[in-house]
Amino acid sequence: MPAARSFSRLPGFRDFAPADLALRSHVFDTWRRVARGYGFTEYDGPPLEPLGLYVEKSGEEIVEQLYAFTDKGGRQVALRPEMTPTLARMLAGRSRGMPKPIRWFSIPQLFRYERSQRGRLREHFQLNVDIVGEAGVAADAEVLAVAIDAVRGLGLGEEDFVARVNDRRLVTAVLSAAGAPGGAHAGCLAVIDKADRAGPERTRAGLGALGLPARTVGIMAEILADGSRDHLAHLFRGTAPVTDALRSLDEHRSILDSMGLGAYLRFDFKVVRGLAYYTGIVFELFDRAGELRAICGGGRYDRLLELVGGEPLPATGFGMGDVVLGELLRDRGLVPDASPSCDYYVIWVGPDQRPAGLETGRRLRAAGHSVMYSLKSQGVGKQLRAAGRAGARRALIIGPDEAAAAAATVRDMRTGSQETRPLQSLLDGEIPSCATGGKP
Ligand code: HAM
Repeated sequence: MPAARSFSRLPGFRDFAPADLALRSHVFDTWRRVARGYGFTEYDGPPLEPLGLYVEKSGEEIVEQLYAFTDKGGRQVALRPEMTPTLARMLAGRSRGMPKPIRWFSIPQLFRYERSQRGRLREHFQLNVDIVGEAGVAADAEVLAVAIDAVRGLGLGEEDFVARVNDRRLVTAVLSAAGAPGGAHAGCLAVIDKADRAGPERTRAGLGALGLPARTVGIMAEILADGSRDHLAHLFRGTAPVTDALRSLDEHRSILDSMGLGAYLRFDFKVVRGLAYYTGIVFELFDRAGELRAICGGGRYDRLLELVGGEPLPATGFGMGDVVLGELLRDRGLVPDASPSCDYYVIWVGPDQRPAGLETGRRLRAAGHSVMYSLKSQGVGKQLRAAGRAGARRALIIGPDEAAAAAATVRDMRTGSQETRPLQSLLDGEIPSCATGGKP
């Protein structure tokens, strides 16, 4: 035998012990319920994709974080770091002839080789909700409404999180009007994306390093310091692309206002999103306290399907991670009870009643109840204590008399009251069933 070795978990990866899995399942159940409530249907794709799917289309940052390798067939492959390229690839091959708009959602596990920190790991699950085939602003509002409801469904409210909204067309229109040449726009977007973390000085230096005229850097620095909607409308009142983009954002807000979600929105010129493919309205959800990384990010990407060989279809959607959300839910005490529970714990008084006990358990399980019993020979007192630890709602005690009469003494584990009942009456549901589990 080789010497024993211990293995630790890889950094940035998680184990899901039952309490953690209970939280994950609770989040997934809520996400599914909310997405289906808006008429989205679920899809999935492979966790491993051709490397080329991400290079250029996703943007530099994500490509640097890829888990990429050459497979045994000599293919360059990568674990998926995000779902949007997979969605685009899947639809490129099948969207023709499908009724539009397409409303699909998925909950993939994704992999990014990031520096692990609070809210950022090397794997996470992400709710992806996308509308493909609708260019109007109502689709942008619809996906943001799903994102807000997916968080609200978990018990978080207006006091807990905010949706910061912007439009990439607005930013590029402002950049052009301020004198930034088109070739510098991608670099400017990258600097603006980091402006909150970098602060005004480093942002100004970052814009300057792109070779922008000093006047342009000055205007952009002013806007980044006070980028309110009204300030922009005033500064660029004669510039049609800016006023058009602002009008589209106003309509977006008015739709969400009508849905009762206006209080969650905040216009923020600094939200441009790090991924390369966005073309229109973009948004990110953050905790109000501003302590954590983004809960969710998304936006419009009208050219991606065409880029992966599909018909040119407009699209908008978002990805919401389970990591930051989990932190928030734990902070607020909004986690589900994961203690063990079962409907019945069968106790046999002596070994002669074991066959009757096992048969009773089998029949109750077949009727949809959860049933446990001791796996070793023990006295009734020990079995009762085990029933308590198992979170049983009722214990069924079977002695010689009960076995002979196909009955059991039913003990309510919460009150301690007990009565003898025919087994058939339990199967007939005369005693309220506890099929949903829960603590005694
Ligand atoms: P993203 O902003 O890269 O967008 O990720 C969306 C969300 O996933 C983030 O806001 C965060 O909650 C979570 N997330 C990302 N990376 C990590 C990580 N390393 N650890 C934990 N959570 C993380 C996208 O992925 C886009 N594909 C979303 C999209 C869908 N846009 C349109 N449709």
